[in-house]
Amino acid sequence: MVNKTIIVSNRLPVKIVEHQGEYRLSPSEGGLATGLGSVYKKGDNIWVGWPGIEVPEERQAEVTEKLAELNLIPVFLTADEINLYYEGFSNEVLWPVFHYMVTYANFDQSYRDSYQQVNEKFSHIVASHLQEGDTVWVHDYQLLLLSALIREIQPQVLIGFFQHIPFPSYEIFRLIPWRDELIAGMLGADLLGFHTFDDVRHFLSAASRLPQVKVSDNIVSYKDRQIVVESFPMGIDSDKFEGLIAEPQVREHMRLFRKTMGERKVILTIDRLDYSKGILQRLQAYELLLQTHPELIGHISLYMIVVPSRDTVPRYKELRDQIDQLVGNINSSYRTMSWQPVYYFYRSFTIEFLSALYRTADVCLVTPMRDGMNLVSKEYVASRTEDTGVLILSEMAGASKELNDAIIVNPNNIGEVMRAILQAIQMPETEQIFRMKQMRAVVSKFNIHLWVKNFMEKLEEVKVLQESLRT
Ligand code: UDP
Ligand code: G6P
Repeated sequence: MVNKTIIVSNRLPVKIVEHQGEYRLSPSEGGLATGLGSVYKKGDNIWVGWPGIEVPEERQAEVTEKLAELNLIPVFLTADEINLYYEGFSNEVLWPVFHYMVTYANFDQSYRDSYQQVNEKFSHIVASHLQEGDTVWVHDYQLLLLSALIREIQPQVLIGFFQHIPFPSYEIFRLIPWRDELIAGMLGADLLGFHTFDDVRHFLSAASRLPQVKVSDNIVSYKDRQIVVESFPMGIDSDKFEGLIAEPQVREHMRLFRKTMGERKVILTIDRLDYSKGILQRLQAYELLLQTHPELIGHISLYMIVVPSRDTVPRYKELRDQIDQLVGNINSSYRTMSWQPVYYFYRSFTIEFLSALYRTADVCLVTPMRDGMNLVSKEYVASRTEDTGVLILSEMAGASKELNDAIIVNPNNIGEVMRAILQAIQMPETEQIFRMKQMRAVVSKFNIHLWVKNFMEKLEEVKVLQESLRT
């Protein structure tokens, strides 16, 4: 039997959706699932994770069977676990703190206890599929304790960990009452990967505060083991996005979209519902543009897709109401009989429809307050096969380190974002092409396949280092 890689993340790349009592599979949203979704199906690899809803015990066998066809292994979460581990610790403690929104955090002990217990649950399921020579690749902030828990069961196993969200500076991280156990959990891995060098720096600084830890360059010595910490900026499947443009279904969506939007300049925004994405601030910038440049009324439109996400968490619900209100205000204040300033959708779309939007929109506006990487910006670039179009990108997104030919903005500066939109819609085609060409080259070269290859090769190198230390 060939050695396999066991990918583990909280969310599987597909989720179960219930339709009139029947369970169907649907693609998951979010950068982790869309990015890795196209590369995990190699050899005997498997992916362990939660299928997205609470599945009653009597239907778990049916779901397990359905997912097995795709090499996916479900971890079933109870309603309490979803509430305390997922919505609670993951998304009311770690997510806000790691995105520098500390006042949104709720440091509840019952959240932490459930987080520990669910990470243990994952460790047992992973261990039950582990065979000698297998590699484990753990993903993201919902499973910070998992690497150490797996190592307790299988001390010699090779484990990689990748965090898809930022790692905050120590002054922010130290606010978490359980900070040391989180670091210790991560240090169960052999290789720790982050999107940017800043995340690496912040992690090393936090790790160095633990008494048993020594940090030298990017190597952490902890309990007789050496752990390597490095940045691996995640890419996308750029060939897939380039190729989609030729699909008849995509061409038809493009035709209809152009027909609806006419000669207007279209500014596209696509995000999950999340306060880290800067959606309200972006709407304010757009409103300021309409206020200060009334000549644009009737000539531009904001096409805004917000994908439902975590809307059982109070801060997310609140944000949704605020967006509804602000969009309503802008539309009611500025619309004319024949023109609408904001087209707002609160739902997800097929990749074919997204591809048509990416290909047709004149400007893509990506202004997160903080974002580990942001794949939407890269998907827009990959879809611009004619090299026209303008990307406006927040300096707080990991992607801004690579896509420096975008118009880079500080998302807190509403005036600057407004001026960037103006610059984008007025940008001469020659300049658009000059900038887009460079960005397309970057996105195409540093794609998801290279990302996986680089991470896996490094992990193999670390394995050799670990073995030499043991002998
Ligand atoms: N996305 C999706 N369905 C939609 C809209 C977006 O699957 O209706 C995808 C999008 O193509 C991208 C991902 O969701 O791959 C968002 O990833 P990103 O890194 O931009 O942000 P995250 O959601 O991971 O914070
Ligand atoms: C981000 C996180 C992922 C998460 C995704 C969607 O991309 O890094 O770990 O899966 O958002 O969020 P959700 O809570 O729906 O899984």
